[in-house]
Amino acid sequence: MDYENIYIEEENNIATITINRPKKLNALNKRTIDELHMAFKELDEDNETKAIIITGTGEKAFVAGADISEFAHFSVEEAWQLAAEGQKLLFNLVENLSTPVVAAINGFALGGGLELAMACHFRIASENAKMGLPEVSLGVIPGYGGTQRLPQLIGKGRAMEMIMTAGMIDADKALTYGLVNYAVPQEELLPLCHKIVSRISNNSSVAIKYAINAVNAGFKYDVNGYAAEIDAFGTCFGTNDFKEGTSAFLEKRKADFPGS
Ligand code: COA
Repeated sequence: MDYENIYIEEENNIATITINRPKKLNALNKRTIDELHMAFKELDEDNETKAIIITGTGEKAFVAGADISEFAHFSVEEAWQLAAEGQKLLFNLVENLSTPVVAAINGFALGGGLELAMACHFRIASENAKMGLPEVSLGVIPGYGGTQRLPQLIGKGRAMEMIMTAGMIDADKALTYGLVNYAVPQEELLPLCHKIVSRISNNSSVAIKYAINAVNAGFKYDVNGYAAEIDAFGTCFGTNDFKEGTSAFLEKRKADFPGS
């Protein structure tokens, strides 16, 4: 697939996906969601890619939401399909990806933009970032997982307030809420993301995959997270990464994980 609305840069086994619709503040139209779906799938299948950073082009917006002009005239059925397909193709895919995904929130992250950031494994914001779920101001509710992931990340009361007021919070408040892990000046955003993901990429990608799975299991209503953890813990003992990691420790050398 040729990408029109995103581009991908790869450096030292770290891929950066940049959403590139600056005239629309990187709003997520269908094409962009399809492109992101393809990009995440391809990068996840590529063993060389150890971590993914996702950001928006420019200094103003990460993603200013789903593309309002595209769905303004949708019927009930079309709206249902938009949310169901979007959740499956992008938001659930990202959340459950085996490769770590970090959102570099470089400006507005609103509606579907904040939902995309929340589907990532964790978030880092620039100090100018503004985050919110403005959907009720448009007569609709978040449809890409926002009503579920925001309370998971910041607690039910704060999430209810943000959703009901449709207001934006700044990076400092997002940091206090635990919505983002760091808030840094814009020029430090991508360097900090690279620094953290390069530390991640030194570890066993197989163990990280199972860790992501076990953490996510605890947030699924039909899965016992503790049981999922026990299964994944046991499975790790059968991997080459476990043999290498424990041997390297005992031999007092740096592990060189085969990723299998
Ligand atoms: N969908 C479609 N287009 C969008 C968009 C969205 N979610 N967000 C911004 N745009 C477009 C604007 O329509 C405008 O396009 P135009 O130049 O063709 O008119 C362009 O991006 C620039 O946005 P603009 O509103 O002029 O910038 P601003 O600095 O005045 O305001 C925001 C920035 C983010 C506050 C404002 O764009 C906004 O409120 N966007 C919608 C946010 C939202 O409700 N998202 C949830 C959708 S469910």
